[in-house]
Amino acid sequence: MVMDFVDLPPLLSAKGVVRLPGSKSISNRVLLLAALADGQTEVRDLLESDDTARMIDALRLLGVVVESLGDRAYRVHGVAGKFPCRQAELFLGNAGTAFRSLTGALALAGGHYTLTGVARMHERPIGDLVDALRQLGADIRYLGNEKFPPLEIRPSAIRSGGVLQVRGDLSSQFLTGLLMALPLTGVETTVEVVGDLISQPYIEITLATMARFGVQVERQGWQRFTLPAGHAYRSPGVVSVEGDASSASYFLALGAIGGGPLRVEGVGRDSVQGDVRFADALALMGARVERGPNWIETAGPLQGKLHGIDLDCKHIPDAAMTLATTALFAEGATTLRNIASWRVKETDRIAAMATELRKLGAAVEEGADFIRVTPPHSSFLTPPAGIDTYDDHRIAMCFSLAAFANTLRINDPGCVTKTFPDFFARFAAVTQPVPVIAIDGPSASGKGTVAARLASTLGWHYLDSGALYRLTALACRRAGVTWDDEAATATIAAGLDVVFGENSIRLSGDEVNDAIRDEEISSGASQVAALPAVRDALLFRQRVFRRAPGLVADGRDMGSVVFPDALTKVFLTASVEVRAERRHKQLIEKGIAASILPLLLDLRERDQRDSQRSVAPLQQSEDANLLDTTDLTIEQAVSQVLSWSKQGA
Ligand code: DC
Repeated sequence: MVMDFVDLPPLLSAKGVVRLPGSKSISNRVLLLAALADGQTEVRDLLESDDTARMIDALRLLGVVVESLGDRAYRVHGVAGKFPCRQAELFLGNAGTAFRSLTGALALAGGHYTLTGVARMHERPIGDLVDALRQLGADIRYLGNEKFPPLEIRPSAIRSGGVLQVRGDLSSQFLTGLLMALPLTGVETTVEVVGDLISQPYIEITLATMARFGVQVERQGWQRFTLPAGHAYRSPGVVSVEGDASSASYFLALGAIGGGPLRVEGVGRDSVQGDVRFADALALMGARVERGPNWIETAGPLQGKLHGIDLDCKHIPDAAMTLATTALFAEGATTLRNIASWRVKETDRIAAMATELRKLGAAVEEGADFIRVTPPHSSFLTPPAGIDTYDDHRIAMCFSLAAFANTLRINDPGCVTKTFPDFFARFAAVTQPVPVIAIDGPSASGKGTVAARLASTLGWHYLDSGALYRLTALACRRAGVTWDDEAATATIAAGLDVVFGENSIRLSGDEVNDAIRDEEISSGASQVAALPAVRDALLFRQRVFRRAPGLVADGRDMGSVVFPDALTKVFLTASVEVRAERRHKQLIEKGIAASILPLLLDLRERDQRDSQRSVAPLQQSEDANLLDTTDLTIEQAVSQVLSWSKQGA
């Protein structure tokens, strides 16, 4: 299986403005209540993501008309509490909000339904909600394991009114599912919460959304909720969905770590979402935070670094994950408590966060309901194998912050579509990566000399990518592997033990600077460079050369494949005759006997192979500046590239 990944470039800073996608929690509640209401509702700024798509698909299967009006707006034709389709099989993916709330509504709706999801959804408990609904006479059966989805719901006589009990200490979504369904009974009903209610802010969202649709719940503390008799949902006409406060957390943390100011628009002081309190946690860590009615802005501490905190995260369960990765950039340990609900989310989030944070060198302690993260001592290396994401959007998003340390590989990044399909594009728009000047061109064009000179002028790092192919060829030779054995060569490329010094290159401890320039190894380098598996194996190795303050990289595919976001791309070439002369002069200077003609023929052959190969062939890409150095001195070539880089060309 081909592993899908994204490599985030190392970041220097973060600033700008992000308009947030709509809140997942509010979007799915509004969709369901608009469907259950009397009248049509225009829903604006709806989140367009997997979880809301599952809810819309389900509502359509139930016979509800949901029209897309474009630009994140939808018109939902309410059914006044009676779904037109009395029988349906609903697939809800891994959308917990959709699953729990539809279970409640359908249990009281009087039809015959099945609700299924992905394998992980079938491991997420729902017994507490089913127990509560059964007290009303609902006929709900487990089709798989007891207390877990999938479920079958059959028509039954619903006992009206009275007092019901539901557990609130595992997930607040059970109470939400129950409360949103109860107006379908039309009679006064009281719900008592058993155990300590977690995630109260999500219940506030539920109550606020129900109120928007005309149903006022009377609340006594967080233990008793009463629905008065005769209430039914009525469309308010138009509803605008707030920005997603959990999604805001990644950008607020970016501002705190990367200097800022970074502003998110769509949530602010007046938000109904509990996760806006994530900004308070950042302030506790030393970040500067400002708020307006509809925006929040963060910036780094005035002095020094962020510092670790010890926090009860009961009120910000989702955004708290972002604190765990922000902790990598703080002084001292960060302890996040009261997060037992992480264990029953898209994945066991405590275990997953601990495993992945350890890959970055953090010391992590975990317990049933807490995690403690002690950051690595100094700058840390990110793993070539990447951060695994467990089909959990929030893991992918919160770990992207680690790109402040180094180039970071995130595996299966597509999971962000659950709540934030264009997350990585938005992330790129407000982060400033370490700049790269990419210089590509044929052998002996002088690009190595120009690139090294540029790097020292700018005080930037330098990557001679050809050396990695040469080292691979040499290491294969030493290991007795032939240059056409793709799998074995790629394994050697992935495991190269190389140390690049100022003027030295060591392979497994031996100085090999001259050995890799040998004509035979040069030819071997060109052969191994044509093997796709070798190029894949060397990709991450090349990318991690990108470190602050900048990188000058030379090779064949620096601008096209390895650093496609390079600040400046140059295709540096010279006539093959001039290149043969330059190579000849170099060899003579080193005291190596050589004549021009074989060098010329060899260069032609290598040009041919490098430009004809099927993967990353040598060619000038459209966005590269052409620099023909046939008649230029090194100084002239360097100054031309410098001037392009100053113009950002
Ligand atoms: O630049 P150089 O001559 O040191 O490169 C050695 C070989 O490696 C050459 O045949 C081309 C290949 N190469 C490549 O395919 N991609 C790169 N980025 C750099 C070099």
